[in-house]
Amino acid sequence: MHTKTNMAVLAIIFSFLGAGAALTFFALGVMHIVPWLFVAALIAIPYFTNLNERRNFLEWKEDFGGGIECIDDDHKQLINLINQFEAAANYDQGEQFEEEALSELVDYTKHHFAIEEKLMQEHSYPEFEQHKAQHEAMIKQVKTFLESYQTDDSEQTIEEIAAYLKYWLVNHIISVDKKTARFLSEAGAQ
Ligand code: FEO
Repeated sequence: MHTKTNMAVLAIIFSFLGAGAALTFFALGVMHIVPWLFVAALIAIPYFTNLNERRNFLEWKEDFGGGIECIDDDHKQLINLINQFEAAANYDQGEQFEEEALSELVDYTKHHFAIEEKLMQEHSYPEFEQHKAQHEAMIKQVKTFLESYQTDDSEQTIEEIAAYLKYWLVNHIISVDKKTARFLSEAGAQ
């Protein structure tokens, strides 16, 4: 279900519970359990909603670290920017805000790829071409998403972009960047 649809459903549920609490307080009085059940539900829903949203956000794990500080720092920043982008989409802050968050993320990703590729070249990393090809494929995919974001149902597309970026980044860090960082570290890179 779309995030914005979720917000609309939540608004209906809140209205229903609020009305339920008011009516039952009025009809049954404050000593009856039923109105308090409505109040408890009103209090519990935001807690579980926030919990669910926090679960969707990416978190840096020690296991992501590859031993090259500038690369690890970039990956942490990319995780922050992906979360910021997802928050912009989740809270329906407007297309301009979403586009700015996405554009900041894409710019930082390109900057990070350039640094990583420079390090690989400087240290004659044997799998440089394969690694660079993964970076290029990712940028190409994001570009495709961006084009459909500008032409199609942007709400759907923005969720697809966020899901793709999260999956891609974690997978790439664990399977490709860590191997590269190990090589670079042994080659004396910092
Ligand atoms: Fe950290 Fe290969 O990107």
